[in-house]
Amino acid sequence: MNDQSGIDAETRRGLHVAFIMDGNGRWAKARKRPRPFGHQAGAKRTREVVEACPDLGVKYVTLYAFSTENWKRSRKEITALMALFRHTIRKTAHDLHAEGARVRFIGDRGPLDRKLLNLMEELEGLTRNNDRVHVTVALNYGGRDEILRATRKMADAVKAGAIQPADIGEDTMKQYLDTGDIPDPDLVIRTSGESRTSNFLVWQSAYAEYEFTDTLWPDFGREQFATVLDKFGLRERRYGGV
Ligand code: FPP
Repeated sequence: MNDQSGIDAETRRGLHVAFIMDGNGRWAKARKRPRPFGHQAGAKRTREVVEACPDLGVKYVTLYAFSTENWKRSRKEITALMALFRHTIRKTAHDLHAEGARVRFIGDRGPLDRKLLNLMEELEGLTRNNDRVHVTVALNYGGRDEILRATRKMADAVKAGAIQPADIGEDTMKQYLDTGDIPDPDLVIRTSGESRTSNFLVWQSAYAEYEFTDTLWPDFGREQFATVLDKFGLRERRYGGV
């Protein structure tokens, strides 16, 4: 049932918007700068988008920061990206916590280096009890990889007698995925003109709407975020309410 703002009750539990942040490399190339320069500019936009969420009625935001396929990039670029993730966590942890953000990481942590893992775990611990905005960062994430890891965990649970194969339903699957109790995305936004979903939230996005925009990620900001939400009738208008 829609209310006057056009948002149904299900969505009012808190809108979930997921981003495929693409185009950093091309943005840097257009400026004759190395690719990491584009990633740095992209990280600033990520911060702006997260900050805008509460005002826009977005309770959950998920960011595709590094895919399982991104290991194919040059050693130099991977090193720069990992350094940027460490730097961004160090620099923003305090403010994110103060803003009431709960930060989680999804993806396979196995190949990530200890220094980065420590920072991720610290940030998750620090923000564990926050509930104003839920920020999920997909790092070494692939949708198929996530489903495979969940399947292996379920197989182990069957072997241990903890669950019966006949009892495995969508709820069981959901529980074993990295996203656990995070609701499915309502909208997935991909920047930079590619109309692909690139192995992002494969199970969770079954019913999501998709927006593909030509804007490169370092040029995407608060205003365009609001415009896209309006396009889908998803922007919460706060008629003097909370
Ligand atoms: C895609 O652009 C972007 C990435 C692989 C990295 C995304 C990372 C950030 C925006 C940095 C910060 C994020 C966090 C959460 C700290 P691309 O390199 O594929 O661009 P191209 O398609 O133009 O080459």
